[in-house]
Amino acid sequence: MRPVVAAPSPSPSWVVVKFGGTSVSSLRNWQNIGRIVAAHRQSGSSVLLVHSAVSGITDQLEKLLAAALADTHPAALGAIEARHRALCAELGVDVSAALLGHFATLQQVAAGVALMGEISDRTRARVMGMGELMSTEIGARFLAAQGLGAQWLDARRVLRAEDREAATARAGYLSATCNFAPDAAASSIVAALGPVVVTQGFIAADAHGDTVLLGRGGSDTSAAYFAAKLSAARLEIWTDVPGMFSANPRSLPSARQLRVLSYEEAQEIATAGAKVLHPRCILPARQYRIPLHVLATQAPELGGTLLTTASDSDASLVKAVCIKKGVTLVSMESPGMWHQVGFLADAFQVFKSHGMSVDLVSTSETNVTVTLDPQANSLDAAVLDALLADLEKLCRAEILGPCASVSLVGRNIRGILHRLGDALALFEEQRIYLVSQAANDLNLTFVVDESQGDRLVDELHDMLVRPVANDAALGPTWEQLFGAGAGAVKAATSGPESGARAWWHERRAELLALMAKRDSAYVYDIATVRERCAQLRALQAVSRVYYAIKANTHPDILRAVHAGGLCLECVSQGELERVFDVVPGLQASQVLFTPNFAPRAEYAWALRRGVQVTVDNLAVLKSWPELFRGHEIFLRMDPGVGRGHHHHVVTGGAHSKFGIRVEEAAEAAQLAEAAGARVVGLHAHVGSGVFEVASWSEVGRSLALLLAHFPSVRAIDVGGGLGVPDRAGAVGFDLAALDRQLQPVRAALGGVELWLEPGRFLVAEAGVLLARVTQTKQKGASSYVGIATGMNSLIRPALYGAHHDIVNLSRLDQPATELVSVVGPICESADFLGRDRLLQPAGEGDILLIATAGAYGAVMASHYNLREPAEELIL
Ligand code: LLP
Repeated sequence: MRPVVAAPSPSPSWVVVKFGGTSVSSLRNWQNIGRIVAAHRQSGSSVLLVHSAVSGITDQLEKLLAAALADTHPAALGAIEARHRALCAELGVDVSAALLGHFATLQQVAAGVALMGEISDRTRARVMGMGELMSTEIGARFLAAQGLGAQWLDARRVLRAEDREAATARAGYLSATCNFAPDAAASSIVAALGPVVVTQGFIAADAHGDTVLLGRGGSDTSAAYFAAKLSAARLEIWTDVPGMFSANPRSLPSARQLRVLSYEEAQEIATAGAKVLHPRCILPARQYRIPLHVLATQAPELGGTLLTTASDSDASLVKAVCIKKGVTLVSMESPGMWHQVGFLADAFQVFKSHGMSVDLVSTSETNVTVTLDPQANSLDAAVLDALLADLEKLCRAEILGPCASVSLVGRNIRGILHRLGDALALFEEQRIYLVSQAANDLNLTFVVDESQGDRLVDELHDMLVRPVANDAALGPTWEQLFGAGAGAVKAATSGPESGARAWWHERRAELLALMAKRDSAYVYDIATVRERCAQLRALQAVSRVYYAIKANTHPDILRAVHAGGLCLECVSQGELERVFDVVPGLQASQVLFTPNFAPRAEYAWALRRGVQVTVDNLAVLKSWPELFRGHEIFLRMDPGVGRGHHHHVVTGGAHSKFGIRVEEAAEAAQLAEAAGARVVGLHAHVGSGVFEVASWSEVGRSLALLLAHFPSVRAIDVGGGLGVPDRAGAVGFDLAALDRQLQPVRAALGGVELWLEPGRFLVAEAGVLLARVTQTKQKGASSYVGIATGMNSLIRPALYGAHHDIVNLSRLDQPATELVSVVGPICESADFLGRDRLLQPAGEGDILLIATAGAYGAVMASHYNLREPAEELIL
């Protein structure tokens, strides 16, 4: 509530509205803009509209410059002209003389560049600024034609670039800043044109009257400058999403709309990677306490985010989890730096001399690590090499990357530290390179490998972003705002899709009929299992695929997998007995036994039964050598890294109980020889629910390195763990990429075969859990839908925080409109099947379907509370 600078007397009549490129590129959006402007006029405000170039034009202008250098610009010019003429036609406005003048200017400048064979920064700024001059010419005419009396203003008459002594001439043209103190002269220029004025974002003029640019994303900044100069009552940034969200909603549909943020929080979120608002535009609004609204042009009714002065609450609240990718780490190591005067000053001088701005810093007695933000620095290999060479004069320097910085933003962030344990446990094996807590207590940032970033965002968001009673900050989720369309948002991400609708949509009637006389059941679709078998058998690089039966031991599934051409992998005598009992014609040679800390008698039984036994502990060979005499064995190795969807399922690395360290390979070879056993295979399984396809080729390569110790090896088993998307529309596992990456590994192995050992991939999508609604409950702000079975049937949500899509199968055709948590009847607070889900309204007796439950569902069920878990049925 304490202003930094006293606000001058406001002239509340001005509202500044800013529209981005997408918003000004179609008739539909311009009609919305017209309505927005008209509404402000009706409530008595004058409107200054600041907008960007037509979408794509800024990039085309860059291309035009490049083409002009090669004297091949006519085509690029033609495309730019055509785009603007098409927009004029769509909006029904004439191609004005002014617009023709802009086309002519572009042509002249391009011809000049072709002639000179070079582009000065001055010329570049002039050309890049033309996009806004052209688009606003069209926009002003459209609004005038709507009867809004719009006038066009050249922004360069009002926005003047500051003289920045430290800045290079280049920055002066391409990333200028302007003074934004309230400005009576500017106000009268605009007011003389008013009450509706259209002007350009992104451009200003320098002291010589030359065009300068405010840097990429500069239109937001232009609008904020104008708002401050006019002492506007309100600034509205209209974009293509309804405000700022608690995470990127395009990858996390449970991200929540942020209704109110302090300027400081918004600044942190914008800086920490959210792209909706340019970080630089917040300062002018903040300094003069102008309320700043972020809204969606195509959906004004969805509301948005209001940036305003901080609230006085001191309850900790995480409002957003942001990610920035492409971050480079520089680690500087020097045993002598402790207490050494000036080390940091010298090191930072090196960054300065390379024109690099440092983002985060962490220090210890012997190490200083900093991050370089790709947005603030151009970081190609040559630049980094030159930096390293200079740093090496001071210390041992190393570049690490690509990394991601993941930031928690909110208020009193220190207060949530104790809740972070579970999310960070994932990083036992993966490194957290740097943790940085901002002095303002608004931000806590972790720097991790880029490949781990998205997962950390999901985990932290799930765990920490929760609405608090009486706090209006967190609004509805993206899913709620856009309903069923939200799934499509995720589907729009790049990469292979899981594609078709899940099988149970088509078989709804059958499923409901099955539930007529039951309260809960797992139902499996064998066709899906067969399809997955065929996909795995088609892998070129893989000679044998073993099904890790622990994922689902239903006899029909085991038979289907065997009939589908797969071998079977078991981890207990119970599993071994099951497969021989239920799979007709199964040969012992098609079965792999991979126990962990099993009793001696199980090894003895399995060896007698003739299955392939895997040893994953040297002590077994030391203590029971006679057991293995004359037998062929596999060794399970630990390549030293683990992966997985949750730390409970990471099975490689220093803290995992599985496998033999690769450093112990020579000793393992000696012990096997002493026992009289022949090592014929090497095995590794580093974790479960993995989507990084490189994982298996990396494992294969590290096992291949051990072959020198084991001349009798015939096969390398690179384990299972293939991820399965946990929600509709999510990106699926890229089997083709896996095959491509395994092929060179396979080729290098010569006569040694490559084996794969997945469980989940074969069965997860084949199974659903159906359960009847028992009760619904409203408790304070929380809505619950209770079902007949819970963690006693499906423990994955409680144990791993796993996500399973849930729908109301009885009312599948109705829209999902209610935000509820789905819970079971077990007396544990962890007995959740899904939190904050958007569901069709549910009533007692309805059947809910919990999707992707075919793996690690029934096999992990229990009789806890003496409640029978769901029975298993085959369709
Ligand atoms: N091979 C070995 C030696 C394994 O330990 C496992 C799984 C697999 C293969 C198969 O992994 P998959 O392809 O299914 O990811 N209950 C957890 C998963 C535990 C996996 C244990 N080992 C879950 O529900 O996510």
